[in-house]
Amino acid sequence: MSFRGGPVLGIESSCDETSAAVVSEGRVTGHVILSQDAHAVFGGVVPEIAARQHLVHIDGVVAQTLDEAGIKPGDLAGVGVTAGPGLVGALLVGLNWAKGFGYALGLPVVGVHHMEAHLYANSLESPDATPPFVALLVSGGHTLLLYAPEWGTYELLGSTRDDAVGEAFDKVARRLGLGFPGGPEIEKLARQGLAGTYGLPRPMLSTRESPGDAGYFDFSFSGLKTATSLLIAEIEQAGTGDLDAARAHIAAEFQAAAVDVLVTKTMRAVEHTGCRRVLLGGGVARNGPLREKLAAALEPAGSMFAPSPRLSTDNAAMVARLAEYRLAAGQSDGLDLNADPALSFPGLS
Ligand code: KG4
Ligand code: ZN
Repeated sequence: MSFRGGPVLGIESSCDETSAAVVSEGRVTGHVILSQDAHAVFGGVVPEIAARQHLVHIDGVVAQTLDEAGIKPGDLAGVGVTAGPGLVGALLVGLNWAKGFGYALGLPVVGVHHMEAHLYANSLESPDATPPFVALLVSGGHTLLLYAPEWGTYELLGSTRDDAVGEAFDKVARRLGLGFPGGPEIEKLARQGLAGTYGLPRPMLSTRESPGDAGYFDFSFSGLKTATSLLIAEIEQAGTGDLDAARAHIAAEFQAAAVDVLVTKTMRAVEHTGCRRVLLGGGVARNGPLREKLAAALEPAGSMFAPSPRLSTDNAAMVARLAEYRLAAGQSDGLDLNADPALSFPGLS
C-alpha cells in the first residue's frame, strides 16, 4: 500500500489525551483532543484508566474529526499513529485501532515517535521552522536537547539524568496542594510570587561549566524537586508568616530555577552548533517565562519557534504532520507494528 498524497489521519493515545486529526499538506482540517478528566482525583495519570478511556472514546473522537474535516474514511490517503514512548496499554488502543482501520480501508499506516511528533507541531504553524535547528523538547516524560541538520536526522546533545522537567512541575505542584497537571498551576501561582525570595539550586549549571565537561548539555531535576519539597516542609514546620504568600514565592522560585537551567543549556547548544534557530516542543513549551526568557536570550540574531498552546501539549495534529512526511518519503509499517513504551528517538547520529 503506497501513499499517493491526500489527507492523513493522525491518532494519539500515548497518555491521557485521546486525539485524532486530519492534516493535508501541512494544513489541519479536523482536530479533536479529548483530555480525560477521570485522573484528576488521583493527582496523576492512572495507566489502566487511561487505556480504558481511550477505548471508550476513540471511535467518537475519530468520527467527530472526519466530520470537522468534511471527509469520509474513503477520502483518506494514509494513517499515522503514535507507537511510543508512552503508557503501553494506552498506546496499544490507538495503535491497534489505527492498524485495523488502515487494513480495512487499504491505507498505508505509519507508526511515529511521540517526541519527534512534538517537534513537527512547529511546522504546522510556522513555515520557517525548518532545519537546521536546535530543539528543546520538554514534556512530562522527557527533556531532550537536540541538533537537527535536517528533518529526520538528529544529534542528541543532552537529556535529563533523572526526572523530566514536566514531572518536576507536576510533583512540586502536588506538594504545594495544587491541581494536576501541575505546570499551568505553578505558572499561575508564580505570577503572585517573587522569585528569589527563597533560594533554590540550578542543577548542573555551576559544576559543568566548560564544553568538555561530561553533562555540559545534560539536565537533572530530581534534586531541584527535593530541595523545593524540603523548603516547603521547613516553612510549614516553622508555621510563621503567611503560608499562602510563601507558596507563591516558592512556585516563582521553582519555575525560575527550572527555566534558568533550560535556557542556559539551550544557549550552550546554540553556541556549540553555531545555529541560532531554536524549536520548542512538548507540554512545558506552553510555559510563558520559558518562552520569554529563551526568546530574549536569542536576541538579536536568533529566532525561537514554539507551537501555540493547543499544539504544545499532546495532540494528534503533530502525529498526522510527522506521518505525512514519513509517508511522502515512502515509509510505512506492516501489521507487525507494535507499541513500544520505551521507543528510542529515531534518526540519532
Ligand atoms: O507533552 P505533554 O502534554 O505530555 C507528555 O508527553 O508528557 O506534556 C505534559 C507536561 C505536564 O508535566 C505538564 O505539567 C506540563 O507539560 N505543562 C507545563 C505547562 N503546561 C503543561 N509545564 C509548565 N508550564 C506550563 N504552562
Ligand atoms: Zn507529549
